[in-house]
Amino acid sequence: MKIIVTKDGSHTLQHPELDETYHSIHGAIQESMHVFIEAGLKAIAHQKKQISILEIGFGTGLNAWLTALTAYELTCAVEYTTLETFPLIPEITHQLNFANSARYKEFNILFAELHASEWEKLIHLNSFFSLEKKHIKLEDFESKKQFDLIYFDAFSPQSQPELWTVAQFSKLYKSLYNSGILVTYCAKGAVKRNLKEAGFVIETLPGPPGKREMTRAVKMIQ
Ligand SMILES: C[S@@+](CC[C@H](N)C(=O)[O-])C[C@H]1O[C@@H](n2cnc3c(N)ncnc32)[C@H](O)[C@@H]1O
Repeated sequence: MKIIVTKDGSHTLQHPELDETYHSIHGAIQESMHVFIEAGLKAIAHQKKQISILEIGFGTGLNAWLTALTAYELTCAVEYTTLETFPLIPEITHQLNFANSARYKEFNILFAELHASEWEKLIHLNSFFSLEKKHIKLEDFESKKQFDLIYFDAFSPQSQPELWTVAQFSKLYKSLYNSGILVTYCAKGAVKRNLKEAGFVIETLPGPPGKREMTRAVKMIQ
């Protein structure tokens, strides 16, 4: 696993076999903020103060950590469930520089806590953020909970076509509350068609730096 410095100075990782990076090389923090926090969390936080989130792909913990910071800023309570097949080892996560800039210094410990927290258990990290990390594949996951928001942050459809299917999106659609949303960095036509077939209403939004578009999919039952 190779650590790469992206254009905004934040790290990402390069997966050795898939030849994919965990985030955009144009800026890892910028991308996460744009796609998941601004287009996802903030859209939901307008309407609710208790928010349940499901993430596909915990990876470096960047989305989870930025969500915890934003929940603190917005004073909302987030319950965050995240799925991961390949948990990263501490030797790697300890080197990641997300919390090193002055802006984020006070949240340095929280980043370490996210990684240290026990798997398969809901851990209350502070008044604004609880985390449940699940070591499971999306394909095997059956949710007992309903969510307000899904961060779909799998590797690309080229690398992992089995995750971007109507079957997986239909399962996720069922796990959302009405008016719940799914956000993803991907704006490929085939992915949007599959989301639509699963029942979602699709919005194509401007993408983060280096990417023209992203997708927000809404569960809208009249
Ligand atoms: C693009 S990275 C996610 C980046 C992550 N959200 C972050 O903030 O660092 C994709 C992640 O999905 C995980 N993954 C791969 N296959 C998966 C599957 N079938 N189900 C759940 N997660 C999977 C990978 O191990 C990787 O950590």
